[in-house]
Amino acid sequence: MTLAELEAAKAVSLEEIEKAADAAALEALRVKYVGRNGSIPALIKAMKDVPKEERPAFGKAVQAWKAEVEASLAAKMSSSPAAKAFEGDLTLPGRWFGLGLRHPLSRVIEETAAIFGKLGFTVADGPELENKFNNFTALNTPAHHPSQDRTDTFWFGEDCLLRTQTSPVQIRTMLGNKPPVRVICPGRTYRRDTTDATHSANFHQIEGLYVDETASKPVSLADLKSVLSYFAKEMMGDGVTVRFRPHFFPFTEPSVEVDFSCHVCKGKGCPVCKKSGWIEVAGAGMVDPRVFKHVGYDPEKVSGYAFGFGVERIAMIKYGIPDIRWLYENDLRFLRQLG
Ligand code: PHE
Repeated sequence: MTLAELEAAKAVSLEEIEKAADAAALEALRVKYVGRNGSIPALIKAMKDVPKEERPAFGKAVQAWKAEVEASLAAKMSSSPAAKAFEGDLTLPGRWFGLGLRHPLSRVIEETAAIFGKLGFTVADGPELENKFNNFTALNTPAHHPSQDRTDTFWFGEDCLLRTQTSPVQIRTMLGNKPPVRVICPGRTYRRDTTDATHSANFHQIEGLYVDETASKPVSLADLKSVLSYFAKEMMGDGVTVRFRPHFFPFTEPSVEVDFSCHVCKGKGCPVCKKSGWIEVAGAGMVDPRVFKHVGYDPEKVSGYAFGFGVERIAMIKYGIPDIRWLYENDLRFLRQLG
């Protein structure tokens, strides 16, 4: 084939494509020209028989032909009535594949981070496999404390354990930062509990820690209460109030247990709050001076509060979930109800 013949063949092919009546005709032309055994690939294969000096110009012309055929096939395909018909009846409703949902535990964690984010708290993280210093010693928990028992904690040797609380992230945060610190730390925690409707060996907590220079602003129990009251209203709804009950934690002094007024019965008493009008949701208190010493903070110069929420607990009361195990079974019939 000479160059002139090639140009003539190209003109014919483009005209054929232009005149093709339907998608089947276009497909036949695609096979005829650019298909595996089409005339253009055949020309490319036969290139070796073209005299050497003509080869570059001829090769270029063949490639140009191929590109033009492909471009006009594509253009014609998308504008042909056949292609339009292929789109189907545009008035039909689309097929619904369902919308994915965030897991209730993720939702509680994300909402908590957003609420505390508005108060200037950032999210800190720590490993689930901890050492004894971060999980117990620095948190002023003596070796004889029951929480250190082999029967309560998953130990891996003398100094390695699955964290029993998110409080070790307090220690990591203070060791790595100078005050002021203002963090929340959501994460998994582990205890050797037998699983039942309200217990799980693996659950989630959200720790909170605020420490500041006492000279600039002494941090008080009243600050803690106001922050937790704000959180309660944002998370559970207007009208929910917070109550502190005296308690003991080795790493806070004074320590409190935190109750929310029951958002279901508004404090009158119902099955959700076991008729008391209050629901226990967190442990909290003012950071113990001994903890400050362990992380190299001067207890004379800084003060702060800490709190720890159970994520499952918040999810269960917020969404009315009676059994903690439902949160781990991934049963779509249950999860879809929380959409
Ligand atoms: N870590 C405590 C617990 O798991 C909760 C807590 C956190 C208490 C912070 C006081 C301050 O029970």
